[in-house]
Amino acid sequence: MDGGIESEGGRGAQSGAHGRRGFSHAPVLLKEAIDFLAVKRGGTYIDATLGLGGHASAIASRLGSEGRLIGFDKDPRALEMASRRLAVPEGREQDWPQITLHNASFADIAQQVAGNSADGVLADLGVSSMQLEDAGRGFSFQAEGPLDMRMDPQSELTADQVVNQFDESNLADLIYEFGEERRSRRIARAIVRARPIKSTAHLAQVVSAAARPMKQPRGKGIHPATLTFQAIRIYVNRELEDLRALLACAPQVIKPGGRLVVISFHSLEDRMVKDALRDGARAGVWAPLTRKPVIASEEEIAENPRSRSAKMRAAERVEARQQGSHRSYK
Ligand SMILES: C[S@@+](CC[C@H](N)C(=O)[O-])C[C@H]1O[C@@H](n2cnc3c(N)ncnc32)[C@H](O)[C@@H]1O
Repeated sequence: MDGGIESEGGRGAQSGAHGRRGFSHAPVLLKEAIDFLAVKRGGTYIDATLGLGGHASAIASRLGSEGRLIGFDKDPRALEMASRRLAVPEGREQDWPQITLHNASFADIAQQVAGNSADGVLADLGVSSMQLEDAGRGFSFQAEGPLDMRMDPQSELTADQVVNQFDESNLADLIYEFGEERRSRRIARAIVRARPIKSTAHLAQVVSAAARPMKQPRGKGIHPATLTFQAIRIYVNRELEDLRALLACAPQVIKPGGRLVVISFHSLEDRMVKDALRDGARAGVWAPLTRKPVIASEEEIAENPRSRSAKMRAAERVEARQQGSHRSYK
């Protein structure tokens, strides 16, 4: 049990067919996600987080030529890799869906996709193994890399600015809020004293030195820099704001009867999803399909240890009720 912490190493990172350098990424809860999406031939599905295209290719292969897959990723490199994986396989030329990929945040889905058009939306949150394993992206505390951590390389804020420019109390607050790190003040003080911090390895070393003396019952067994790196990454990428926006606009793009499936990897995200589906159920927008989150089987965890923190929740879009008998949900 790791307290819902997304640990490092690349979700689905494996040294199998593609090896670490080939950035393999085993899609987490693949069968469960496909089942809850209830993927049907001829349908329109949105993969909001293409990554390396693992879930997307499994969806695409079930849609047939009448179907449509719309994919999003704010990382252009992920989009490139996913588009290669989604190329029409040999022999399936007559049976492959129309595929449209957007290099955009899933927060903007409602601007890119027609209302009431999707039979399902999948979001598999966080970073991919490709992003984590590429030291040059600056996501990993296990490698020497620049303090970057941006999924979208065009976005303005980098980890370097947060680490080297934010004042101590802002830094402590964000480490506490987005990392749920109880030692945030001590860590922020150490970071400010060690400035300029030049790399991910340097940051990991400063945080580890500051965090080591404290007991860590919740995060037992995790690297002392895990929560601080998680916090900075979430902040730099506006991950919770984007998730909030996705949850708010999903009911606009999903047809009545369509499904929303979200896989999250830490408690902040899972709480947001749970609350949004509960509020949506009260408002007559969602019929939740998972009372408790679906988690990976022991077999999946043994094969892919990173799946151990995955939590999947799903809901079905409810037919609009008679006018006047429901609250509006925008
Ligand atoms: C865990 S990976 C998805 C892996 C994918 N399901 C697969 O099977 O390969 C998450 C991906 O979502 C992307 N991402 C995260 N937040 C995003 C956002 N707000 N908008 C679009 N893409 C996002 C990341 O860049 C990353 O490529």
